[in-house]
Amino acid sequence: MSEPVLIDPSYIDEILIPADRLQARIAELGAQISHDYAGQDLLLLSVLKGSILFLADLMRHITVPHAIDFMATSSYGPELQSSGVVRILKDLDRPIANLNVLIVEDIIDTGHTLHYLVRILQERRPKTLRICTLLNKPSRREIDVAVDYIGFDIPNKFVLGYGLDYMELYRNLPYIAVLARHLYT
Ligand code: IMP
Ligand code: MG
Repeated sequence: MSEPVLIDPSYIDEILIPADRLQARIAELGAQISHDYAGQDLLLLSVLKGSILFLADLMRHITVPHAIDFMATSSYGPELQSSGVVRILKDLDRPIANLNVLIVEDIIDTGHTLHYLVRILQERRPKTLRICTLLNKPSRREIDVAVDYIGFDIPNKFVLGYGLDYMELYRNLPYIAVLARHLYT
């Protein structure tokens, strides 16, 4: 059976991270997290919507019993640039005081979203607060964020797939692809 066609091939310049490399790295991250939190409580805080595929695959590799919760922040909207302004669209269901909280993110770009999230979550007095991101664009950072687990450092290119969208579409691709140049402009 052939692979289903999920996107017009002219919309992507290249596949940056194929599915097998994603899955192999996520298994490593899960093993590392399981080791680091052994014997402790753990709450995975997924930032909607981009991190849902990553969360679903990562948690299957975490052997420590853990809860999950979700938060949604304002995204870029129609533009591909970060405004630096972050709003909470959906808050957590439960308090996080005295819990080990691990933020699960799809990508850190300028750092504004996570910088803001960390600041407001720290006020809720978790026992620990760490960050796990699948993708990291270090060259784009405008504000410093301490990231504890990184799946892949990637170049300054707009990527989509595996949870990440282009205009809210293509989150279902099983790989990370680079958006075609002609769609930027
Ligand atoms: P930051 O506040 O600039 O770090 O932006 C983080 C958010 O921007 C991520 O959670 C994504 O939703 C979005 N984002 C940043 N870069 C990309 C990209 O290359 N593709 C898709 N979304 C992106
Ligand atoms: Mg996002």
